[in-house]
Amino acid sequence: MAVPGPGYSITMRIAAPPSASAAGDLTSEVGRAGGVITAFDVVESTGTLMVVDLSCNALSQEHADEIKAAVNTLEGVTVRKVSDRTFLVHLGGKIEVTSKVPLRNRDDLSRAYTPGVARVCMAIAANPDDARRLTIKRNTVAVVTDGTAVLGLGNIGPAAALPVMEGKAALFKRFANVDAWPVCLDTTDVDEIVRTVEILAPVYGGINLEDIAAPRCFEIEARLRAKLDIPVFHDDQHGTAICVVAALRNALRVVKKDISNCKIVVSGVGAAGNAIIRLLLLQTPADVVAVDIKGIVYRGRDGMDPNLADVAAKTNHTNQSGTLKDAIAGADVFIGVSAPNILVGDDIATMNSDAIVFALANPDPEIDPLEAQKHAAVVATGRSDFPNQINNVLAFPGVFRGLLDAGARIITDSMLLAAAEAIADVVQPEQLNASFIVPSVFDATVAPAVAAAIVREAADAREHVTHEGLSSVAHTSGATPDVEGFLE
Ligand SMILES: NC(=O)c1ccc[n+]([C@@H]2O[C@H](COP(=O)([O-])OP(=O)(O)OC[C@H]3O[C@@H](n4cnc5c(N)ncnc54)[C@H](O)[C@@H]3O)[C@@H](O)[C@H]2O)c1
Repeated sequence: MAVPGPGYSITMRIAAPPSASAAGDLTSEVGRAGGVITAFDVVESTGTLMVVDLSCNALSQEHADEIKAAVNTLEGVTVRKVSDRTFLVHLGGKIEVTSKVPLRNRDDLSRAYTPGVARVCMAIAANPDDARRLTIKRNTVAVVTDGTAVLGLGNIGPAAALPVMEGKAALFKRFANVDAWPVCLDTTDVDEIVRTVEILAPVYGGINLEDIAAPRCFEIEARLRAKLDIPVFHDDQHGTAICVVAALRNALRVVKKDISNCKIVVSGVGAAGNAIIRLLLLQTPADVVAVDIKGIVYRGRDGMDPNLADVAAKTNHTNQSGTLKDAIAGADVFIGVSAPNILVGDDIATMNSDAIVFALANPDPEIDPLEAQKHAAVVATGRSDFPNQINNVLAFPGVFRGLLDAGARIITDSMLLAAAEAIADVVQPEQLNASFIVPSVFDATVAPAVAAAIVREAADAREHVTHEGLSSVAHTSGATPDVEGFLE
């Protein structure tokens, strides 16, 4: 099912004889070895030699090695060097701090730093709320992790988690002009994490928890929400839930079903599944049945932690027990955030007609989407090489843009639902079909729509909204505060 992609993209510097057929021989050999060529540049040419940079996508590191070996077998050809283009992107890190103010001369220094800065410090000391107007706090988010649940890699620690957190920060900037900074903590102790975030919070307008393993992530988020006066959002939980609910809203439109008549099976009750179930329940579906590695979650099941017991209490009206396959028979919707390849096409065939299947386990879904498509009306995955990619990038940039613009101190369930509706509504009725239930992550209207929805909900919830109101994504960080008005 996997196809060569840009995640394993290499550039080979190759020396070859300058014959008429050399270029064709090279590209044919790469193609025979399964590589997908993306660029071919001649970097040196003489009467006896041609040096080219050939870039291609591969399936894996091993596959890249095979492609190199295949090229080396050609008569007179030598691969001099192979660059892994993914590693090249990461050299020296992916983000940086830049100054927003000019520092050209003594006057500039006196205003941006001492002595002028002292008056600004004292203004904030007199009125701490003004930190949002006069510092980076108004546009800055901490991306906090302990490195215990990084992508599908598990507990790889805080330093190894940093490339992911840098990437997250880059996405925040690219999609919503939010200045996010990685905070990778060298502890997995819940008390230490909570205390550390608490004491660094003054710098930030929001906390994005990231890749912290369940069930500790639930306690950390709950305790931080109780302690802090800035919003705390665990993206693996709520970002996923927002995107799933958005996609489901549109999938139900495609199959013309109302959620109140739907039985929804959620496979996986970890960080993602737990939050998805809670957001789904706010929309009163006919029933939700949760399934984890031990089978259906039902009241009275042995060995459930308090979180699972709470899910059991709120779901599964008939208190059904059994396996995942038992659960999905007669279901309208399957949402998988669990493990790869645990279902086959015949299982989907037992669902109700016009079934909806979201198989989101990464990188390999709960069921081969091509198999699922034979029996389901709408299929979505977390993968970029299939239609309907459910990707948290649709949610978290706009969510934090809205929270920061609103000066929000908390995040509410109604904000999460409003964000989901905003994402769903970006897909216009004339665009909607079984292969287009969520907008592209590159749709520039998504983040502003999500941000506007969050700001509206914050206002409704009588949150304090800054007098600037909703800043557009384009100009937010450059907005100049009305300092004179503030000082009066
Ligand atoms: N947008 C997306 O596509 C998206 C977003 C979030 C998570 N995910 C994917 O969802 C999966 C779960 O993520 P998480 O952060 O919630 O992980 P997690 O470790 O917190 O939870 C995993 C859950 O799956 C259950 N599970 C494991 N094997 C199972 C099986 N064979 N049958 C049924 N349940 C099983 C576990 O009991 C647990 O409840 C991962 O593959 C992740 O990549 C995708």
